Amino acid sequence: MRRAVTGTPALRRLADRFVAGETLDQAVASTTGLVDRGLHVTIDHLGEDTLDAADAAATRDAYLALLGQLTDLGLSGQVEVSVKLSALGQKLATDAEQVTLANAVAICEAARVAGTTVTVDMEDHTTVDATLGTVRDLRGEYPWVGAVLQSCLRRTEADCADLSTAGSRVRLVKGAYAEPASVAHPAKRDVDLAYVRCMRTLMASKAYPMIATHDLRMVEIAESLGTELGREPGSYEFQMLYGIRAAEQRDLAARDHLVRVYLPYGEDWYGYFMRRLAERPANLAFFARSLFSR
Ligand code: FDA
Repeated sequence: MRRAVTGTPALRRLADRFVAGETLDQAVASTTGLVDRGLHVTIDHLGEDTLDAADAAATRDAYLALLGQLTDLGLSGQVEVSVKLSALGQKLATDAEQVTLANAVAICEAARVAGTTVTVDMEDHTTVDATLGTVRDLRGEYPWVGAVLQSCLRRTEADCADLSTAGSRVRLVKGAYAEPASVAHPAKRDVDLAYVRCMRTLMASKAYPMIATHDLRMVEIAESLGTELGREPGSYEFQMLYGIRAAEQRDLAARDHLVRVYLPYGEDWYGYFMRRLAERPANLAFFARSLFSR
C-alpha cells in the first residue's frame, strides 16, 4: 500500500494539500507565507515508528537544522516545533527510553537557544504512559514543553486534570488513531462531549490550552468558555492542520486569536497522509478514485 500510494502521482498531488513539501526549504517557504498572514506555526518533521537508532539520530539532527534556520530567519517568535517520540527512538529494541530522552533533550536545548518551544505529539494509546513520562522528565528543565491529550481516550479526562497546572501547555485533540473500545469512546458524540469537558478543565485552570480542532462547534464553545472564564485572547490558542480550513484560520486570527498551523514536511509523509484521509469520508472516496484510476 505504501509503495502504491507514494508512487501514484495523483495521490502525491493530494498529499501536497496536507504536507508542505519534502525539504526544509519548502517547509520554511510555506511557514514564511503563513507568518506573513499573521499566523503562528508548529513544524513537524515527518517520521514515526523508527526502529533504528541511526534514523532516530537523523530525525533529531533534522530538528536541530530546522531550529537553526528559524533562528537565522528571525522566525522563532512565531514558530515552534512538534515532535513524535516514536521518531526519536521510543520503539527501539534496546535503550529506547534513554535514547528518546537524549534526542528530545537535544531538540529542547536547541529550542531554548532559539527562544521557542517544543510540543510532543501523542501517538496511539500504547504510547501514552511513556510519552507523558518523557514530557514530565523534559519539563523539569524545559517547563514550556507542550503535551497532547486525545479526548477519544477514556483516561484523558484524568490526564487533563493532572496537566491543568499553571503555565502547562496542553494541546487538546480528538485523536487520530484507530483505538479499541476498551480504551477509547467508540461513539463520535462521546469523543466530542469529552472534548468539551476537557476544554472546560483546561480553560478554567491556569494552564495554557491549545485548542486543536477543525470542528467549528468546538471553536465556538472555546470562545464562549474564554469569555465566561475571563480569559484574554492570547491566554490560549487555536491550532489547525496545514491545508484544512485555511479561511477559518485567518478569520480566527482576524478576531485577535493566536492561531497556530501545524505544518508537516519531509519525505516520510505516508502515515500522516493516511490519517488525514481516514478522518474524512470525502477524502477517502477521492483517494480510492485516484488509486484505482492510475
Ligand atoms: P472532526 O473530525 O469532528 O472534524 C470536524 C470537521 O473538520 C470535519 O467535518 C471536516 O469539515 C473538517 N476536517 C477534519 N479533518 C479533516 C481532514 N483530514 N480533511 C479535511 N477536513 C477535515 N491527533 C493525535 O492523535 N495526536 C496528535 O498529536 C495530534 N496533533 C494535532 C495537531 C493539530 C494542530 C490538529 C488540528 C490536530 C492534531 N491531531 C492529532 C489530529 C486530531 O486528533 C484529529 O484527528 C483531527 O484534528 C480531526 O478532528 P477534528 O477535531 O478536526 O474534528
